Amino acid sequence: MPKIFITRMIPKPGIELLTARGYEIVVSPENRVLSKEELVSFIKGQNYDAVLCLLTDRIDADVLGASLPTVKIFANFAVGFDNIDKETAKRLGIMITNTPDVLTDTVAEHTFALMLAIAHRVVEADKFVRADRYEGWAPMLLLGADLSRKTLGIVGLGRIGSRVAFHAVKGFDMKVIYYDVKRNEEFEKMCGAVFTETIDGVLREADFISIHVPLIPQTHHLIGEPQFKLMKPTAYLVNTSRGPIIDETALAEALNTRTIAGAALDVFEFEPKITPSLLNLNNVILTPHIASATEETRAKMSELAAANIIEALEGRTPPDILR
Ligand code: GLV
Repeated sequence: MPKIFITRMIPKPGIELLTARGYEIVVSPENRVLSKEELVSFIKGQNYDAVLCLLTDRIDADVLGASLPTVKIFANFAVGFDNIDKETAKRLGIMITNTPDVLTDTVAEHTFALMLAIAHRVVEADKFVRADRYEGWAPMLLLGADLSRKTLGIVGLGRIGSRVAFHAVKGFDMKVIYYDVKRNEEFEKMCGAVFTETIDGVLREADFISIHVPLIPQTHHLIGEPQFKLMKPTAYLVNTSRGPIIDETALAEALNTRTIAGAALDVFEFEPKITPSLLNLNNVILTPHIASATEETRAKMSELAAANIIEALEGRTPPDILR
């Protein structure tokens, strides 16, 4: 009977799929992020057939090595897979899968939640009311900025980036400009989006900038001090991709000096630690990496990770295999 290790409890639907197949499930006894040493010690010598892991697990050569010779697949419960040493997995003949598509709408919605919240000062306003500072309507109280008909700059027009762009055009009549390593003329036709040859073109022109690139060596600190200097002083930056894409110290400085108007982050450079200088700023909103966190979507991610495992263990190609 196949034996599966799950590195932390996840929503039930995927576990039910696996148990319905008669698989034996072992969930980490710790309801927290496991260190790499713990991962190695939980996996080594246990003859697991598959591991269902999370974006907080560092699946490096040591962890992959410890899973040999029995583990055939590490199924990541995330669309991003920068936590996994994919090249080593490939060399060792271990399959890696992720959970794309099922979370696209939810992450795009959260991106808009952040964009609207920072522009309309929702968090600041909530704190203001709770602090008993509200003394009645006032013409100049907590003035924010509109999204409607402004320019949204998308950095990375993949599944999520293009969904955010779609909502911007259809819902807010925004103009979309984008930078990506690949131009998408079909999307341009559908949404009237405009491609810029360089990322700088997006940074200079956009009123709102939303980051949707994967974390790879080339995107580490893609946005830092020189990039903030290119942005409009009225610009807002939103990040729902991966924290290290933005140099957080440079961001705090840019927000503090009003080089840009505001930022909203769901991901952090040193997650779960937050650069302390961000914490006291009113012009930044911080959410704890929850962009895909709805009941519906986390259930679907659980099912998809399980489906990838079932396909792999039953000798078929998992739908979300990463090559
Ligand atoms: C979340 O960040 C994910 O990659 O799914």
